[in-house]
Amino acid sequence: MKILVIGGGGREHTLAWKIAHDSSSPEVFCAPGNAGTAAVATNVPIAAEDVDALTAWAVTNRPDLVVVGPEAPLCAGITDRLEAEGLRVFGPSAKAAQMEGSKEFAKDIMLAAKVPTAEAETFTGKEGALAYVRRKGTPIVIKADGLAAGKGVYICMTEEEAEQALTEICLERRHGNSGNRVVVEEFMEGEEASILALVDGDHIVMLSSSQDHKRVFNNDQGPNTGGMGAYSPAPVVTDDLWPIIHDQILRPTVDELKRRGIVYKGVLYAGLMMTATGPRVLEYNCRFGDPETQVVLPRIEGDILPLFQACVDGTLSNDLLSWKDEACVCVVMASGGYPGVYAKGMAVHGLETVETQPGVVVFHAGTAIQEGTTVTSGGRVLGVTALGATLPEAVKRVYLALSHVTFDQAQYRTDIASRALQRVE
Ligand code: AMP
Ligand code: GLY
Repeated sequence: MKILVIGGGGREHTLAWKIAHDSSSPEVFCAPGNAGTAAVATNVPIAAEDVDALTAWAVTNRPDLVVVGPEAPLCAGITDRLEAEGLRVFGPSAKAAQMEGSKEFAKDIMLAAKVPTAEAETFTGKEGALAYVRRKGTPIVIKADGLAAGKGVYICMTEEEAEQALTEICLERRHGNSGNRVVVEEFMEGEEASILALVDGDHIVMLSSSQDHKRVFNNDQGPNTGGMGAYSPAPVVTDDLWPIIHDQILRPTVDELKRRGIVYKGVLYAGLMMTATGPRVLEYNCRFGDPETQVVLPRIEGDILPLFQACVDGTLSNDLLSWKDEACVCVVMASGGYPGVYAKGMAVHGLETVETQPGVVVFHAGTAIQEGTTVTSGGRVLGVTALGATLPEAVKRVYLALSHVTFDQAQYRTDIASRALQRVE
């Protein structure tokens, strides 16, 4: 069986790694991949955004399944293109991917489905938005409507901060066309968690919970990033919350999409805020989380392809899924300066040693192979990951492993999972 994974980050290395270990021993391809995917798959030098070239490759090479990692090709309609060529794709259509591609669309679905989320209004310019901010008061949250790689969100504690955010989005156009429309929404207080759900158009299978760490520095300081680390399961998602997340959030969302003739197939990622009045949706994404994937997939017992195939076929069921009784933690090693300017091409040392440690796996994100050595090629470089019998055990393992890996100007958080550690202690 031939599988094509689209993307080249830590999430895609994890997907390719998990798929490659399936009992059917599939032949895995990864486009474009990275130095890590090269060890478990054949890299195909096509960018994840190049829908034309990817479609041409798939038409020629006829993979049995295409697994799409990032949101950009999904929102650009790669699933529709590949399906039109008779190929099987794990990932939503362009229409369904609007759940992530347009915050306004997602809000509209949630409102119609009565899903608990922040109250919000969408505006096309600064003036209207600012008037709304003045009416509602602060704290308040301002977001560029389109895709902004997690960087288009401003948490504003004062009216001045809100005005500054609106100037950046609407006038200075920091996020380009993503700022054509701006969403102003209610600030929600609580602890965050991510729920990745598999959906086959109708059936929903929730994967285990996880928590991301979006800020670059310890204690959630500094600018937002793509994610600096994660752990799973997230104890903030207590047992009593699962039926609520299913019945009041995911089920009505998928049903509302169906009602509008939109068949959602793939991962529906619910970013949740655990508030005093229960879980509320921060955002929906149309794909696996990064770095959440790095901590959720290693905990899945056995094969993952039957789950993906069932999503395509509409035969998804919880019987296809079982979990290891272990916790998993991932710490992202990033280039100094990330999420701002950073250097590339630094040699990475210590990878061979670290992978021999029990329960440890290093997922590559921004790496490439240059003259036979692994070098850095992006902001987030590695996701050092460890399984452990308990969360404290996994944390101990991951930081021990990290001490063996080095590259110039590496930075990472030393407090990944600390909130959960406090809870379990
Ligand atoms: P998003 O890309 O929409 O998930 O936003 C990025 C981050 O901003 C989230 O992970 C939250 O930490 C924060 N955030 C977004 N919306 C809100 C909100 N309405 N209330 C509080 N925090 C928020
Ligand atoms: N880890 C956040 C995201 O994947 O959007």
